[in-house]
Amino acid sequence: MGDRIYVGIVGLGLAATAHIRGYQSHPAAMVLAVCDTDGQRAADFAERYGVERVYASFSDLLADGDVQVIDIATPTFLHAKMTSQAAQAGKHVHCEKPFCRSVAEGMEAVRAVKSAGVKLLVGETYVFLTSHMKARALIEDGAIGRPLQIRQRHGAWRRRADHELHLGAAARAWRLDGAQSGGGRYPWLFDHAVHFFATAEYFMEDASIDEVYAVVAAGSGIGRRAGASHDPYKTEELDIPIITWRYADAERQGVWMRADPLNGMYDNMHGLSTTVVGETGMIEVLGEGGHNLLWEGRQQHLILHREGRETVCFRFDEEADRVWNSDISYYGQGHVSQVHHLIDAILDDRTPRYGGEDGVRAVRTTLATILSAEEGRPVRVAEVNEGFAAYAEN
Ligand SMILES: NC(=O)c1ccc[n+]([C@@H]2O[C@H](COP(=O)([O-])OP(=O)(O)OC[C@H]3O[C@@H](n4cnc5c(N)ncnc54)[C@H](O)[C@@H]3O)[C@@H](O)[C@H]2O)c1
Repeated sequence: MGDRIYVGIVGLGLAATAHIRGYQSHPAAMVLAVCDTDGQRAADFAERYGVERVYASFSDLLADGDVQVIDIATPTFLHAKMTSQAAQAGKHVHCEKPFCRSVAEGMEAVRAVKSAGVKLLVGETYVFLTSHMKARALIEDGAIGRPLQIRQRHGAWRRRADHELHLGAAARAWRLDGAQSGGGRYPWLFDHAVHFFATAEYFMEDASIDEVYAVVAAGSGIGRRAGASHDPYKTEELDIPIITWRYADAERQGVWMRADPLNGMYDNMHGLSTTVVGETGMIEVLGEGGHNLLWEGRQQHLILHREGRETVCFRFDEEADRVWNSDISYYGQGHVSQVHHLIDAILDDRTPRYGGEDGVRAVRTTLATILSAEEGRPVRVAEVNEGFAAYAEN
């Protein structure tokens, strides 16, 4: 083989479609093999992207001695197990979020990665989004003083007419299943909250969330609509529209709130937007699918307000998103930046900046939220036992 980094992708759905553009645009990477249990999908994917080797089983992919990196884009219940197996086979790993379904499952994979001495990047795309990375750089530069409060607002994602989402039943089935999604009665929340908590810690200079509280709307009677195909929602009588949290330093807190057709509410702002309140300033920034952040009547991607100084606005000149009707290039530049980060970390022998322990912490915080919803009280993240899961074992 040549001098490139050879990659094998397993699970060829929405996430894989976003990842492959990252590998194919990196001069040192090449996707040598793909694997999916759906043989037709694997053959179509390989043809579309010009991939040489096609496998129907993960063990055959792992046995390919030329493959150096395994990209895991399968449904959530397979993530931790496949990470361990890939590490044991001596491969570097790029694993989609949520990294695991319990702390125990995730930590087992972390240990396998450590003992194999391979690299692991968890696919937390929210910390590879250009707008979010710019906000973090401004915070590190002291633009708003010490960040003290995070306010996240979640409005509806609007799909592009020519989007690349898979509409099939298979893409919905695992997302609705309590054990396969990992979320028990809260599958949507489990799939997405890891993003919100990762962002909340990223903007708080990596301070960990210490305690969470879920505001539950149970049997509110509000009419709800179906979500996007990859965003199903069936728990009509149960919803978590608001989460609050505090960090170890009680001066620092956060809140996430969703007003979206999924929970029967309207908001004119789309996607995720975050306000970071600091001692001397404030940042407003768009995230995945973001739209309608306005300053003086104009659409912006990031707004920096500072005490006694003029407001500064930013827009990022990237391709539009490939799935959402948004200028924030999430299914575009976000995924590409994430993949490039892993390849560069392998080339430079650096530790990727969002690893297994980060992925486990986001899951643990999400599990604390579910526990809070179930028990109606604030829950400390440390209270979540290693073996706790949101679903009942069959
Ligand atoms: N970071 C992000 O922005 C982002 C975006 C989308 C999805 N995701 C995550 O990526 C993961 C995959 O989501 P998706 O939307 O691509 O799912 P999907 O349902 O569209 O695709 C999953 C694919 O995995 C295949 N598969 C299932 N079991 C397999 C096995 N044992 N071996 C090989 N292939 C197998 C399926 O046949 C299917 O083609 C999920 O965990 C999801 O949360 C992350």
